[in-house]
Amino acid sequence: MNNKIALVTGGTSGIGKEIVIELLSKGCKVITCYSNNEENAQKLKQEMDSENLLIFKCDVSDEKQVINMMQIIKEKFGSLDYLINNAGTFIDNLIKDFDIEDFKNVLNINLLGKVICTKHVYPIMNYGGSIVNISSHLGIVPCTESPAYCAAAAGIINFTKATALEFSDKKIRANSICPAFTPTPLSLRGWKQEEIEQKLKETPLGRFATPEDTAKLCLFLLSDDSNFITGENIWINGGRL
Ligand SMILES: NC(=O)c1ccc[n+]([C@@H]2O[C@H](COP(=O)([O-])OP(=O)(O)OC[C@H]3O[C@@H](n4cnc5c(N)ncnc54)[C@H](OP(=O)(O)O)[C@@H]3O)[C@@H](O)[C@H]2O)c1
Repeated sequence: MNNKIALVTGGTSGIGKEIVIELLSKGCKVITCYSNNEENAQKLKQEMDSENLLIFKCDVSDEKQVINMMQIIKEKFGSLDYLINNAGTFIDNLIKDFDIEDFKNVLNINLLGKVICTKHVYPIMNYGGSIVNISSHLGIVPCTESPAYCAAAAGIINFTKATALEFSDKKIRANSICPAFTPTPLSLRGWKQEEIEQKLKETPLGRFATPEDTAKLCLFLLSDDSNFITGENIWINGGRL
């Protein structure tokens, strides 16, 4: 993976940040983006202190901002080898009470953001490139109070398969990962303490997923070690079915 060029969306926190760290440790040049939290972006920059890391402020749900980011990547690097569509948000409510603008916001960031980045990465992605989309456990097993997140996560899995079919013309692979509950700012904001304890009880391996678990699987799916795997979804859940 040395010298490969990777774009990780939402790499300033949680799972995305760990993917950025793992890719840098393998010698990749990494571009990442965030939409809001400047403090996290500065922290990542300082912690990594690497000329191989470039951080953009770019909202993945805004097509103009994504086109602009891809243009700068093209000018600076020429092309890309890997895309990790990770950026996501979480707003919970019952369907009965959900504000439709909030529902659209979740779909726009979690699902359409991946569509927009995938569409605009295609022209600059090298033959044999690899895309990993971060979906969720909730894309397979729904729950109450997160209908927008569940819908987006389920959509990501099949969008990934459609990408694998279409982008095979450039031998670009596309796979998705469904991590179970992983303590990060996103998930800790979304769940009550008793719900979190219940999830742990339901997990046969007796611990929560970590960002490292997902990052290591992501690197495998990006690497040539998985070069006949495409259109696949991998559920990473400690046996919590
Ligand atoms: N944590 C879990 O339990 C869990 C489980 C399964 C799947 N996932 C998925 O894993 C992914 C990462 O989640 P996480 O738990 O690591 O969350 P996190 O710690 O809150 O990190 C989310 C990252 O995405 C960025 N982001 C959010 N909205 C964005 C936008 N519109 N444009 C660009 N960047 C944006 C955030 O930056 P800003 O804050 O600056 O916008 C941040 O860097 C998400 O897709 C989530 O659905 C998480």
